[in-house]
Amino acid sequence: MAPFLLITDLDNTLVGDDSALQELNSVLQPHRQQYGTQLVYSTGRSLTSYRHLASEQPLLPPDILVSAVGTEIYYSDRDTPDPLWSEKLSQGWDREQIVAAAAHFSNLTPQPDSEQRPFKVSYYLTEQAAEEVIPQLQAMLHDRDLNLQFIYSGGKDFDILPAHANKGNAMTFVRQQLGVDPSRTIACGDSGNDLALFVDREERGIVVGNAMPELLTWHHANPNPNRYLATGRCAGGILEGLRHFGFLPQS
Ligand code: GLC
Ligand code: MG
Repeated sequence: MAPFLLITDLDNTLVGDDSALQELNSVLQPHRQQYGTQLVYSTGRSLTSYRHLASEQPLLPPDILVSAVGTEIYYSDRDTPDPLWSEKLSQGWDREQIVAAAAHFSNLTPQPDSEQRPFKVSYYLTEQAAEEVIPQLQAMLHDRDLNLQFIYSGGKDFDILPAHANKGNAMTFVRQQLGVDPSRTIACGDSGNDLALFVDREERGIVVGNAMPELLTWHHANPNPNRYLATGRCAGGILEGLRHFGFLPQS
């Protein structure tokens, strides 16, 4: 067995099936100790909201936490995000202009304060309203010399981020920091904000069996032997995919 780098989303990917999570943990922990396998969580949650989840679920402490949809990178237990990454995101970003433009749309309900981050502005938006509101907001913010990215996930969450900030670019950044080859790196996800972990990537990918239509539709339209659609749900799907790619031995 050789070490690998596992980068996984939390809600409905790693977390969501308690017994599968326990089983995956019981395989991963010794792999980390014996072979130096590394674990990165990449979540839409803020650090505060991640800590809340970690107090309720048996999550192994990660080597790195990527929070707020790829906009913040925390090393082990540190409380301040990587300043180099924040610096990269600050170009072409103007939070106040975005908040002011979004205030024109009554369908955009701001998410709780804890989820509003320096490089992430987040709303709740119904699927029906999303089809109209997102292009209109995009048009409004166009031509303002801003470099933005709009991500709609799970049929309800709408995030506006700097163009360079997403889970995929954050994955490249941490993978390079850790010095791991793309062929030994594997990313797992279930919803819209995980798409960037899979689009035009060299790393291996696992789409868990319970993935949302927004990710599944894209997966089926863009087949790639480096990306595996599991039948198992959540951590069960991750375990299945790790075995599929030979990162773990067959059970
Ligand atoms: C998490 C975050 C939320 C975000 C969503 C989708 O639920 O807490 O702010 O909108 O992920 O990225
Ligand atoms: Mg998820």
